[in-house]
Amino acid sequence: MDFRSLRFKLTLWYVLILGILLISFSSFLYLTLSRSLYRDVDHKLRSLAELIASESTSPLSKFDFGSIDQTLETSMNLKPIGKFIQVLDESGRIGRRSENLKSARLPISLNALRNASKGLITYETNRSLRNTPLRIITYPVKEQNHVTKMIQVASSLEDVEDALNTLLIILLVTVPSILLIASLGGQFLAHKALKPVDRVTQTARMITSQNLNQRIQTLKVKDEISRLIDTFNEMISRLDQSFRQIKQFTTDASHELKTPLTILKGEVEVALRKKRQLHEYEQILESNLEEIDRMSKIVEDLLLLSRADIGEIRLNREDIHLTPFISGLTEQMKILAQPKNIRIQISNHEAEHEEELHILGDTLRMRELFINLIENGIKYTEAGGSILITLKKEMNGSVNPLMPKEKKPAAFVKIIIADTGIGIAKEDQEKIFNRFFRVDKARSREQGGSGLGLSICKWIVEAHQGEITVESEPGKGSAFIVRLPFYSP
Ligand SMILES: Nc1ncnc2c1ncn2[C@@H]1O[C@H](COP(=O)(O)OP(=O)(O)O)[C@@H](O)[C@H]1O
Ligand SMILES: [Mg+2]
Repeated sequence: MDFRSLRFKLTLWYVLILGILLISFSSFLYLTLSRSLYRDVDHKLRSLAELIASESTSPLSKFDFGSIDQTLETSMNLKPIGKFIQVLDESGRIGRRSENLKSARLPISLNALRNASKGLITYETNRSLRNTPLRIITYPVKEQNHVTKMIQVASSLEDVEDALNTLLIILLVTVPSILLIASLGGQFLAHKALKPVDRVTQTARMITSQNLNQRIQTLKVKDEISRLIDTFNEMISRLDQSFRQIKQFTTDASHELKTPLTILKGEVEVALRKKRQLHEYEQILESNLEEIDRMSKIVEDLLLLSRADIGEIRLNREDIHLTPFISGLTEQMKILAQPKNIRIQISNHEAEHEEELHILGDTLRMRELFINLIENGIKYTEAGGSILITLKKEMNGSVNPLMPKEKKPAAFVKIIIADTGIGIAKEDQEKIFNRFFRVDKARSREQGGSGLGLSICKWIVEAHQGEITVESEPGKGSAFIVRLPFYSP
């Protein structure tokens, strides 16, 4: 048995508490019973002594101390069994005695004599006579304020002591037996209750990153242990998912870098196959540079995302007045939209509300966010289409239900970037924010995309306690909706 185990401790506590209860109960039982038995004896002795005293001093009485037994039986109809009676004169000399005493005399102590002379009653227990413990009352009889006699009545304590001894033996046997049985039972119960915990421990010990698909068998009964198992299983599921994501991410990242490397290698190999003209080398190097730029961009984005993951990126928050901020950006983006003849417009609801739209944000990150979104709009819209950017204030928006209420800002600024482009199918809409996800890989790559743009957008918005969602219909267009906490400077 392991003395540090919960099983042992539970049993120990159980037996300890039960032991304390049983011992207190037994002591209480023994003490009350013994007190009541002794009091009973004293009470009977005193009644008899009082009776004899009052009979003998009554003026009409024919009480005859010469034959106490007879007198008691005939005149008082009393036959006190097991009671010894002895009469003494005022100086303590022993006079008549009941017949059952035969030749023996009841002992009288100095203390009892002294008390009696003062008119006080004394109770004593005496063990010197015939090996039987005796309880003796010494009762002074007063006549005209003088102690004239003393009546001693005694009774054997044998029965009382026998009864108490029997009780003591019963208690001494039963209490330890009950404790022994209880400790066995307690151990069994603790063992039974804690068995599932052992199973949890064993399974947990077996689980490594290689077999995170394992689960602990759940219990039918819904108790504390089953809650522990459920919680544990949920934790493994989350771990499993994170591990999968990490693996997926690594695979995707290597794949993404492999393509430009293969192209680069191919181009260089072709270039080296024979001597070429200078302008041919220039062409090849330009093409190489393109691939290198692409790789740099991927590596940069990856680095940003992984630094964001470990919370290494500090936001440099400052007051941003959104209307001029977005118009400025849009002007720059128009150059990019020109070749495809895409119109970019801003619709500002601010004028209606006569309130300026401000947020507290990191200017660089905010630029990155909106450039990414507008760039996507341009990339995934056919020539001649348009992009409409709408800004408005929204009172207690529907943002993230998981966010604690007290942290929820009262108002949001809602920025909608809507295009008239190719749109996104329903089943892809939730995936586009995943790293490396692209609806059409070839088309995206052609346009220089690696599928990390929206992951970065999502991180930026969430780092600003905001939310980004998409509404889209294939063939009609997409609208990206960004909500950021409103800030009043
Ligand atoms: N405005 C849009 N219209 C249609 N599809 C879009 C739009 N924005 C993003 N997508 C889809 O979401 C994918 C992920 O976008 P993003 O993360 O920016 O990657 P990238 O732009 O590098 O392809 C894109 O490949 C595209 O399939
Ligand atoms: Mg993009």
